[in-house]
Amino acid sequence: MKQELVARNLIASDEAAAFFHAWAIDEERHTDGFIRIIELVANGSETDLRARLDARTHDFGPILEHLKDEFSLMVIIAFDEMCTCRAYAAEKPFYDALGNNTFHYWLREVIADEAVHSMNAVNVIRARYRDRIDQAATILDNLIRASDNLRYSGTFVLDYFGAVYSKELLANSRLATMRNIAKPLIA
Ligand SMILES: [Fe+2]
Repeated sequence: MKQELVARNLIASDEAAAFFHAWAIDEERHTDGFIRIIELVANGSETDLRARLDARTHDFGPILEHLKDEFSLMVIIAFDEMCTCRAYAAEKPFYDALGNNTFHYWLREVIADEAVHSMNAVNVIRARYRDRIDQAATILDNLIRASDNLRYSGTFVLDYFGAVYSKELLANSRLATMRNIAKPLIA
């Protein structure tokens, strides 16, 4: 995925490259964890799950028109990570019901990771694109409007299936992301 982003000139700065490096490692770890949980809980087979995930994740196709440059990419990722953070939080009761504390603590770490990802993306925006911060709201508004039609089509972003990804969750995540982006720099 990273190569594709570089090729499209969507990763231009060192800050964004560093972000993607750390992010990819985390998400890989999350995927491994989710696969193990699904195996344990639902008796899924790993190869089958991997094949399905590979076919699905890291496909920017349906949202490419919203990815104009590094700035819009970082805005969308900051928002997306905020959404997943909140969606996982909404799924806490499910993990708690699995009956083993390990699931509870694992999910808590995933939620924390997603919050950090969102803030890391926000920090790239604040470091490199202060002059464009007022454009972030329009990007997210367009994206959220488009997500009605995307029909959860398997991009890693906006991969929103399931009831927890409500319009309310999207709206609240937009608000939280915008608040973080617009926060005044501490002198
Ligand atoms: Fe994530």
